[in-house]
Amino acid sequence: MQNNIFSGLFVGQNFITIKDVDSTNNLLKELVSNSKPLIEGTVIMAENQYAGRGQHQNGWHAEAGKNLTFSILLKPSFMTISDQFDLTRAISLGVFDALEPLLGDKLKIKWPNDIYYGDYKLGGMLLENMIQGGQIKNSIIGIGLNINQENFPDHLPNAISLKQILHQDYGLETLLSEICRHIEAWYLNLKAAKISFVRNSYLSRLYWLNEQKGFKAGGRFFEGTIKDVMFNGLLVIEDTNKHILEFSLKEIEFLNKQ
Ligand code: BTN
Repeated sequence: MQNNIFSGLFVGQNFITIKDVDSTNNLLKELVSNSKPLIEGTVIMAENQYAGRGQHQNGWHAEAGKNLTFSILLKPSFMTISDQFDLTRAISLGVFDALEPLLGDKLKIKWPNDIYYGDYKLGGMLLENMIQGGQIKNSIIGIGLNINQENFPDHLPNAISLKQILHQDYGLETLLSEICRHIEAWYLNLKAAKISFVRNSYLSRLYWLNEQKGFKAGGRFFEGTIKDVMFNGLLVIEDTNKHILEFSLKEIEFLNKQ
């Protein structure tokens, strides 16, 4: 009998582990397009990714065997392209809720979908949606979380792991099953059209919400306060002249004092 570590209805019920792969997002994408239909909720977890991908065409670094690097297949055909940021919100909330009992108040979601502890990055995600007829046919949700890694390379001064925070090792599959359980719950909220609940919950967990901070946009430095996130994911900042500005991901940089 298969020992099933996942307690949800479908996320993780088809669980594939692989020792070495370029990227779990690439592998899941290949399986979705090449093989017989893959069931919603399929999870692929890698022990080692040798070409992990991050946002903005960056790579994703994770020491083999010490971290969570996995991808989930969802089929949110009830969502249109214009709703796709709600999926980002739901997944971020799922990861957040799984970690919150361990990490408490310093845990935040950094817009759009980074997981932060204080001013340090604990993890991130890469959502790749396949669109058909204006609807999201498949979503490949890649998540990377720093768990038991003790040191990071110099080019990642902003990274932190669960072990660096709590000084103990964590079971990767136990954490994965908690994350999948919470992601499924938030996804089901979306499916049940509880959109305001999802949007308000995401906003309330946001890093730098309602705090005056430094940003850089269009080559200009300015001080401002995050006030909201638009339905489509644009970040709303009020500058010190009380002007309301909206930014997409590529247009704005957070200026952390390190
Ligand atoms: C980011 O830049 O913050 C997003 C990181 C996403 C990394 C994960 S690890 C599992 C999945 N496979 C990949 O190649 N990337 C994602």
